[in-house]
Amino acid sequence: MFSLLRHPWIRCKWQSTCCCQTTLQPGLPSVGIIACFLSPGPLAGPEPITRRDRTALPRLPVPPQKQTLERYLASLQPLVSEEELKYTRKLLQDFARPGGLGEILQQRLEMKAQKSDNWLSNWLMDMYLANQTPLVVHSSPGVVLPKQDFKDTQGQLQFAAKLIAGVLDFKILLDTGNLKQSYKNEKPLCMDQYYKIFSSCRVPGPRRDTIVDYSVMNPPPRHITVAHNYTFFQLCVYHSSGKPLTVGQIYSQLEKIWSSSIKTTKEPIGILTTEYRHRWGAGHKILIKDKLNKESARIIQQGMFGVCLDAPSTRPPAELAMSHAAAQILHGGDSRANAGNRWFDKTLQFIVGEDGTCGLVYERAQAEGYPIMRIADHTFNFCNAMGDVEPCNTPLPQPKKLYFNINSEVKRLIDGARTHHDTQVADLDIHCFDYNKFGKDFAKQKGLSPDAFIQMAIQLAYYRRHGEVCPSSEEVTTRFFHLGRTDTISVTTLQSLAFVHGFDRDDISVQVKQQLMREAVDKHRTGTEWALSGQAVDRHLMGLKLQAIEDQYNIPELFMDTSYAFATHYILSTNQVPGQTDAVMCYGPAIPDGYGICYNPQSAKINFSVTALNSCILTNASMLARAIKDALSDMHCLLEQ
Ligand SMILES: *[C@@H]1O[C@H](CO)[C@@H](O)[C@H](O)[C@H]1NC(C)=O
Ligand SMILES: *[C@@H]1O[C@H](CO)[C@@H](O)[C@H](O)[C@H]1NC(C)=O
Ligand SMILES: *[C@@H]1O[C@H](CO)[C@@H](O)[C@H](O)[C@H]1NC(C)=O
Repeated sequence: MFSLLRHPWIRCKWQSTCCCQTTLQPGLPSVGIIACFLSPGPLAGPEPITRRDRTALPRLPVPPQKQTLERYLASLQPLVSEEELKYTRKLLQDFARPGGLGEILQQRLEMKAQKSDNWLSNWLMDMYLANQTPLVVHSSPGVVLPKQDFKDTQGQLQFAAKLIAGVLDFKILLDTGNLKQSYKNEKPLCMDQYYKIFSSCRVPGPRRDTIVDYSVMNPPPRHITVAHNYTFFQLCVYHSSGKPLTVGQIYSQLEKIWSSSIKTTKEPIGILTTEYRHRWGAGHKILIKDKLNKESARIIQQGMFGVCLDAPSTRPPAELAMSHAAAQILHGGDSRANAGNRWFDKTLQFIVGEDGTCGLVYERAQAEGYPIMRIADHTFNFCNAMGDVEPCNTPLPQPKKLYFNINSEVKRLIDGARTHHDTQVADLDIHCFDYNKFGKDFAKQKGLSPDAFIQMAIQLAYYRRHGEVCPSSEEVTTRFFHLGRTDTISVTTLQSLAFVHGFDRDDISVQVKQQLMREAVDKHRTGTEWALSGQAVDRHLMGLKLQAIEDQYNIPELFMDTSYAFATHYILSTNQVPGQTDAVMCYGPAIPDGYGICYNPQSAKINFSVTALNSCILTNASMLARAIKDALSDMHCLLEQ
């Protein structure tokens, strides 16, 4: 038996609330991806992935263990006491002693790295799919696009038609092998994620979820699903000749969808996907006992992506408009608003509200912010370059309405999901703002890394608000490696600590403060470089722990240490997601007493989102947002002196 079953609760700190119950079991495929209509046997998992990777990228390395343990110990220094540090140092020495468990596990990891495409990716996928917390708010990020100015429903549908055409334009680049390779610092990035976004969907299970990937079907799905007024439609966006519908044709089809779904009082069936995963897993089984329901759900899962035509929501005061829009994108509002107009299991859904709100929400077991932002940029540029849309009168088949039979059992599930969702919506405290005194160009002029500069502003803001520093993380991409996803770096360092301690003191000169800032920024930059080159700490430690579990050892003491628990309880969970568009990504806090912070630095401004939970009395998103603005301005001032 796997020793994991004796220690069933393991932290997955980069995702939602503190704990998740893993359900690794002997004999189960380690990755829950089912490539549909290929054999879903245990060995089918990785196959479609390698088939699609066309770049010859290096494999993700396993860092030297000594280096990781040293870096880990250093990362604890600003966070824990001398005593605790001493204790942890002893645990690490014990772990790393010659012939000890550390050495064995390290060898096993290195072997895994040689034998597999990416030693980490299956474990990461397992973590995502075994996590029971709801996708909404707690896992799936939203990307808010600039608000549109529609005059009427026609405007909404015309924009939605352009948007659909824009996504199809991107999809065609992908399908024809014409999608340009992405680079960062002039080095190629792994493109694998792009092939997993379309026609894939997460499917809930009673104990763990799976991913279904219909893009490998022959022929692949040619439809998207459109939701309006809680009614889902299957809309074919290709002619039988294989040519995509024109924008005018899509617009005419959307008009048909719109007019055949008004005045319906429907149950918000999509709200079921906002539940805890195991509950929705049990509910899903009940739902698809009915043949019609099963077929409708399958069509939604197969669609290339979803489009949600949202009803207008109550108009917020002007200063809250950005935050309000972000909330609608992230969770759709409460159960009487637009939450039932979504299918959160779907990997990619675009949202176009009658009031001009637009954006997208994505399921992150399959993809990360960068690739999603690139799709958003492409789509948005496509929309902007296109003129007015004329309806088109070519006769086209009526989009297919997807019916669900709602018996009393399903009705009960819906009512339960509504109550649950209303609670989580009411609990989310979200604040978005744009900082427009300066952007990344300023930091560059001063010879500083813009990302590290912003991170230090967040550190300063938190310190000023809370009077202490806290465990803070930033996600960094590892896509320089084959099938790379992300690593997590610790933002709080001895240098950042010295910087925030010194910043507001009167007895420290401007020159010294500037020096402290540079040192903190440069230290952060170094940590980022480590992660980019596959030499960060977080995933390596996680790998050692999971390897111990897999090999049926007891979990090493170092992972039971309070320092480890404390340092990985990331109060600040942050992410830089740059895009050309005036967009901003947002997600809920990673832990109940934490903050979720995303930012998009542009040349002369920065868009931010800050989230927290109302149920936590220690956090307050708008107050931290205010403090971040002040910190940025004060740091600017300091450098200009
Ligand atoms: C249905 O759609 C129409 C038009 O968007 C809207 O006026 C109406 O409030 C919607 N009804 C529901 C239940 O969302
Ligand atoms: C980003 O900031 C700009 C102003 O600097 C603002 O107009 C825009 O609405 C913001 N974008 C989002 C998606 O909030
Ligand atoms: C956060 O602080 C602001 C300003 O002090 C206050 O108006 C707001 O109610 C607080 N929000 C929460 C969730 O405590």
